[in-house]
Amino acid sequence: MLNINLNSPAFFADPYPLYARLRNDAPVCPLMPGIWLATRHEDANRILRDPGFGKDFLAGVARRYGTDTVKEPAFQMVNRFMLLMNPPEHTRLRTLVSKAFGVKQAPELRHLAQREANRLVDGFIEQGRTDLVKTFAYPLPVRVICALLDIRLEDSLRFQEETQALVKVFELSPISPAEIEAANRAARDFDDYFRTVCRKRRKNPGTDLISLLLQAEEGEDRLNEDEIIASVALLFLVGHETTANMLGNALLTLFRHPDQLALLKENLSLLPQVVNECLRYETSVHIAARVAMRDIAIGAVTVKQGETVYINLGAANRDPEVFSNPDRFLIERPELASKTLPFGGGIHYCLGARLARIELETALGILFRRLPQLQLENIDNPSWKPTLTIRGLDYLEAYW
Ligand code: HEM
Repeated sequence: MLNINLNSPAFFADPYPLYARLRNDAPVCPLMPGIWLATRHEDANRILRDPGFGKDFLAGVARRYGTDTVKEPAFQMVNRFMLLMNPPEHTRLRTLVSKAFGVKQAPELRHLAQREANRLVDGFIEQGRTDLVKTFAYPLPVRVICALLDIRLEDSLRFQEETQALVKVFELSPISPAEIEAANRAARDFDDYFRTVCRKRRKNPGTDLISLLLQAEEGEDRLNEDEIIASVALLFLVGHETTANMLGNALLTLFRHPDQLALLKENLSLLPQVVNECLRYETSVHIAARVAMRDIAIGAVTVKQGETVYINLGAANRDPEVFSNPDRFLIERPELASKTLPFGGGIHYCLGARLARIELETALGILFRRLPQLQLENIDNPSWKPTLTIRGLDYLEAYW
């Protein structure tokens, strides 16, 4: 077994040298009994699309915390997330939710993201400095989701905290009883709040996402209230941490590469390419997990039925077999953006990829237009979150 430390400050500061070693020496590496880490692009791509790999969230919870914990409200709610389902339940839920989620067209989403990003910049522009993670990257995706759901801005603050409590149930290492209780409180509060909203929208439908979810149908089939509430919670959860951390990572990456930043500032129409390259070079979601439904060989290794594979998207995005000079940040990179895997692949491909790209392009564009003198502090030694699954910054002090 390779001697690797995925929990050290050096790893969190720069995980890519270790990822390179793993891709070379142990592309499907045993992390602990029954858990593997896959780092090559080819393997990641295959596992994401292979129906022999699926999800079994509650079995993992029972293994880690005991069978009683499975009944707790937080785990029950999360278990209704499409993200954690297998076909045919996943196919049904995703089809219905996509119908509602896909209604708003790109210009409308862009307009919404612009409005919210401008409001946030209005809030701090006079101060001359701010922590961009706290005042911009985190609130922006929450405000966008709240606007899509047509719920009050005050509630967005509450949901920002609650999603952070609920997201803990995905942690790979066991969380404390107090953290489980906080996640349960968040799940109950979410449930109460959105059940009331659902009732109101049934009586007075609008053009918001909840009204659209209530109306979505496929043949005779519709979503029930539990499914709508869980799907809204999922959108808050996955649409929030992912995009917020990605925005911080993109800003840091650009300031660490002044020649590339200069190219962008000269020509803001490069924004879609910039976002693609940021998503490849410093993506926020590093791990997607799958469980083997039967024994499956990957290269020299056999993953046994019931064992888990952590697909390392961050490592796959830097695989030299697919990307030339993968450790260089090049916004005019010749390889197709479609080869990068920041949004996963196969049946669970990120449902919010279009929205995430729009939010990122809009947020960066507005910052560089409105704060042309923007500078970041401490770009050589930033404070990275100590997690393997999500890569992101604790804070990002900026001045102008
Ligand atoms: C930069 C931002 C984002 C990144 C890097 C990202 C990444 C991902 C990844 C890797 C997956 C697949 C996980 C797996 O295969 O197990 C996923 C799934 C998903 N994402 Fe995103 N995401 C982002 C933003 C968003 C946003 C803004 C939304 C919606 C508001 C969203 C909604 C979803 C949903 C609903 C799924 C589950 C799809 C399914 O299971 O069929 N994501 N995302």
